[in-house]
Amino acid sequence: MVKLENITKNYLQGKMEVPVLTDINLHVKEGDYVAIMGPSGSGKTTLMNIIGLLDLPTSGTYTLAGENMEGRRENDLAEIRNHTIGFVFQQFNLLPKESALSNVALPLIYAGVPKKEREERARKALEKVGLGERVTFRPNQLSGGQQQRVAIARAMVGEPKILLADEPTGALDTKAGIQIMQLFQELHKEGATIIMITHEMEVAECADKIVMLRDGKILEEHPGRGYVLEEVEQ
Ligand SMILES: Nc1ncnc2c1ncn2[C@@H]1O[C@H](COP(=O)(O)OP(=O)(O)O)[C@@H](O)[C@H]1O
Ligand SMILES: [Mg+2]
Repeated sequence: MVKLENITKNYLQGKMEVPVLTDINLHVKEGDYVAIMGPSGSGKTTLMNIIGLLDLPTSGTYTLAGENMEGRRENDLAEIRNHTIGFVFQQFNLLPKESALSNVALPLIYAGVPKKEREERARKALEKVGLGERVTFRPNQLSGGQQQRVAIARAMVGEPKILLADEPTGALDTKAGIQIMQLFQELHKEGATIIMITHEMEVAECADKIVMLRDGKILEEHPGRGYVLEEVEQ
């Protein structure tokens, strides 16, 4: 599904090229649940932006869903991105004045889905994340964990091939974070391909595989626990 071969990314700082990612090789297959873990500044968000077609690598080959992403125009990349990837961010990124239902239905507008079907699908997606009773609520009427569930419903409503999450529990308390990890586990069981970025070991352990990033390089890969520990220490 995602194949990165010898990916590098440099940023220009003045006249200096600063390497941020060096020789990244990563293979994520359909149905995989992978955590990319590393300390702050290790290049996680840069890597996520490349996987999510929000940024281009300096060199290397990126194959997404069997297609080489090299040399494509911005329009094509945006189109592929919309069809292939659902994003979840640390800060939810919901529209504050819109209801949960409108927030979730929004990507379907860009996909050209008619209004009635948009609302039906958004409602179903919200039911799926346990918010069927909250469809008319605006973000500020929801808890952080509930807002993140709206964001996950929005990410999944277009039935993307990959769910890409950058620090999805980073803004949440432990209990809400565990609920989000339980939701990811459920989506994974139903066949979703998930790539989750985190700097927290307990979060990474919920995935089937953990990829350790350090200073822009993959340090090692090892299996995760693959399920969510339910006990919450207070
Ligand atoms: N647009 C940019 N221009 C220059 N340097 C950047 C840019 N984006 C990120 N960096 C640098 O790349 C490194 C990795 O950043 P990032 O991918 O955000 O790490 P992480 O998400 O792991 O905290 C950092 O040293 C950061 O300062
Ligand atoms: Mg980051």
